[in-house]
Amino acid sequence: MHHDLANPASNRCPFRLRNHHVYREPLTGKLRLAPALAGASRRPRPVLEPHVKIRILGSAAGGGFPQWNCNCANCDGVRKGTIDAVPRTQSSIAISENSIDWVLVNASPDILAQIRANPALQPARAIRDSGICAVLLMDAQIDHVTGLLMLRERASPLPLYATRQVLAELSQSLPLTRVLGHYCGIEAHALGIDGAALTIPPLVTTTFMPVPLASKAPPYSAHRDDPHPGDNIGLAICSTASGRRLFYAPGLGQLTPPVEAAMRDADVLLVDGTCWSDDEMITLGLSHKSARMMGHLAQSGPGGMIEVLDRMPAARKILIHINNSNPILREDAPERAVLAAHGIEVAADGMELAL
Ligand code: MLT
Ligand code: MN
Ligand code: ZN
Repeated sequence: MHHDLANPASNRCPFRLRNHHVYREPLTGKLRLAPALAGASRRPRPVLEPHVKIRILGSAAGGGFPQWNCNCANCDGVRKGTIDAVPRTQSSIAISENSIDWVLVNASPDILAQIRANPALQPARAIRDSGICAVLLMDAQIDHVTGLLMLRERASPLPLYATRQVLAELSQSLPLTRVLGHYCGIEAHALGIDGAALTIPPLVTTTFMPVPLASKAPPYSAHRDDPHPGDNIGLAICSTASGRRLFYAPGLGQLTPPVEAAMRDADVLLVDGTCWSDDEMITLGLSHKSARMMGHLAQSGPGGMIEVLDRMPAARKILIHINNSNPILREDAPERAVLAAHGIEVAADGMELAL
């Protein structure tokens, strides 16, 4: 299904909330009159204001941009200011309806810098306070979970949403939740991967639907070579007020039918932009692994992300989780012109989207 962004009032957002089928009329959202029609004799058609805000806190892959120990042309150039590129922190987004309460999706090692760069996450209602009301994890990768330790000064247990597989990693191989038990503690919520959508309080008009991804557990995992559904998820985020959806998958190596369906349903795609070419890290002498071996679909080449995005009806197609080796980090790179020709954008830290 393709939602027309210009006519959100015509949309409905059918979704399954736990075991019930729920339909919300878009009229539950905030209404204003379309300016062009105000005062016209015809009955004005209501236009819904975007309700759900998505703030991109970090748009880089693991290591960030520049990466602390990397002297590739991109990292060296951005450090010295000799290339047309901006630094980026490690991938994470935050979602809010009221700009006060935010669900953090992935807790990156850069979380403290990201909070400093986004004052909206710090509403200061009390002497010690944070706008981060919950954290949802999409996998147990280092660049998505280690920021949890930085949130330990909370006064109450941190609501943490993750699949059973990810919660198990974080109590066993990388026992962050056990460590946090000695500080704020966590309130664990197991995410199902059966296609059910859930809400995360205090958000009320945003639903989150985990979509299982065919990928592997992190390199440190005892189950690295024994993949299970739930090791990695994508996330369909839906505004029940406007009916608009975003699909978020910073790591996407393979297009299975559920992923393909979630991508087709989305008005906004925020997907894996790790590498331009599959052998990029090898060619630059940075790694022995191809993008595919790391669970990432490269942008260029047959079957690459550009081809995938070309067949998707989404109004906006945005790449995120960009590795420091990727030529698209340079605003003036020819690869950027290729993306632009396909209507594909490149996320930067601080970017805001609305549903
Ligand atoms: C990945 O997604 O492959 C990670 O960014 C790797 C890492 O955290 O080093
Ligand atoms: Mn990563
Ligand atoms: Zn580099």
